[in-house]
Amino acid sequence: MAQKKPAKKPASKATKKSPAKPKIVPKSKSMAAPLADLSHVEVEGSAKLTYKGKEIDLKVLHGTEGHSTLDIRPLLPQFGLLTYDPGFGSTANCRSAITFIDGDEGILRHRGYDIADLAERGDFMEVCYLLLHGELPTPQEKAEFEQTVCYHTMLHEQVYPMMEGYRRDAHPMAVMVGIVGGLSAFYHDSLDISDPEQRMLSSYRLIAKMPTIAAMSHKYSIGQPYVYPQNHLKYAENFLHMTFSVPSEPYIVNPVLAKAMDRIMILHADHEQNASTSTVRLAGSSGANTYACIAAGIATLWGPLHGGANEAVLQMLAEIGSVKNIPNIIRRAKDKNDNYRLMGFGHRVYKNYDPRAQVMKKTCEEVLRELGINDPMLDVAMELEHIALSDPYFIEKKLYPNVDFYSGIILRAMGFPTKMFTMLFAVARTAGWIAQWKEMIEDSEQRIGRPRQIYVGENKRKYVPISQRGSAAKLRAV
Ligand code: ACO
Repeated sequence: MAQKKPAKKPASKATKKSPAKPKIVPKSKSMAAPLADLSHVEVEGSAKLTYKGKEIDLKVLHGTEGHSTLDIRPLLPQFGLLTYDPGFGSTANCRSAITFIDGDEGILRHRGYDIADLAERGDFMEVCYLLLHGELPTPQEKAEFEQTVCYHTMLHEQVYPMMEGYRRDAHPMAVMVGIVGGLSAFYHDSLDISDPEQRMLSSYRLIAKMPTIAAMSHKYSIGQPYVYPQNHLKYAENFLHMTFSVPSEPYIVNPVLAKAMDRIMILHADHEQNASTSTVRLAGSSGANTYACIAAGIATLWGPLHGGANEAVLQMLAEIGSVKNIPNIIRRAKDKNDNYRLMGFGHRVYKNYDPRAQVMKKTCEEVLRELGINDPMLDVAMELEHIALSDPYFIEKKLYPNVDFYSGIILRAMGFPTKMFTMLFAVARTAGWIAQWKEMIEDSEQRIGRPRQIYVGENKRKYVPISQRGSAAKLRAV
């Protein structure tokens, strides 16, 4: 193993001197924030590019697994060339040791561990620890980690009136993006991102408080009293308790549902450099605080092409309504002149079955069996999957069901309103966002994100006084 690189930004003296509050972040060596080890990049060879008679030699880099990568950094300073890659489909923006995906093979691994193994044999807290610290915890490390997360589950009491500033029918993602960004106005002792301890403190706080925020926004929307976290419960249990219990009745968390919730969280915890994670990294590259960066990630996740797809799947299934309407929907999805897409199908990276969808399908069956639900929507979903998977259009374009295809059905069966689905995704993805953000801060090669463009606008032209301006066409002729 190569030597660990020093953090780009060492702890500031001022924060080192400030007295530590008890148990905020454990001080034992095992829980100290390890620095990201990003040294496993090798120069594999080089590639030649000829441009205007000049030969350009570019290094080809290789990490531990995955695609070889052309190092284009000299292109602009040495040759005045940019690269064009809308949607960053062929661009690696960072080195990362957190998650590996092979989309052609349908592989997803966190820190080397297969997602199916983690989902079957681990739990969400373990996966959070793994993403943040790079290794699975020992029993003592795990206990310490869970205890610390528990310690931070409550919200500042002034967050509640902030919540009440929203309309009760607000979309939960609108509430979450506002509240999470607003946490930076409450926790001033964890805003200095150059201090590893403060970075860790804000990370623990976010992982701990996200379920509380999600449950609280649900309670507010339906006019029920807020239910405070119960720290003797496990993370997923606590979330179900805060969401579904009422003060007037006992509530016993169903272990099958708690297990399913935990598994859904594992399956959504991280997914490499997707749109929301890249947004978190980009926001973080400017030095913004953790709460602001995670709020940026939540905003990006909201879209129907990303985390909003689980909500969109249910809307689509409800619109289809019956198995007999599926052929028409398939026809529309294939029609080039129709923008209609099958929600929950396709993925930018997976061109094979989404490995998370396989685990999710099994969990879906378990939950429906436990609850004795015979959901006609599930019949529509199964038939849609069957028809799409045997249709040449979907086969050729390698459009398989993704993780969101099943998660919506499970969440609906568990009693979550559709509007909450994307928010649950955000609760789980916070672990990945934070791990990726922290890795970025500790990476000496990272600098502020600043893509370039191909300018296609007007050339230089003269300012025209308003009295002499005609239509846009006339102006162009001036
Ligand atoms: N239904 C029908 N056709 C589709 C679908 C779909 N769900 N997805 C892609 N296609 C078609 C496109 O029309 C395009 O066809 P063309 O080559 O004839 O123009 C081709 O497949 C490639 O599609 P792109 O949009 O270029 O693929 P991209 O990688 O950019 O998009 C995405 C991936 C956004 C996930 C897309 O498949 C999609 O919109 N799916 C539905 C939304 C969804 O389920 N999102 C959740 C993603 S998983 C997640 O965020 C957790």
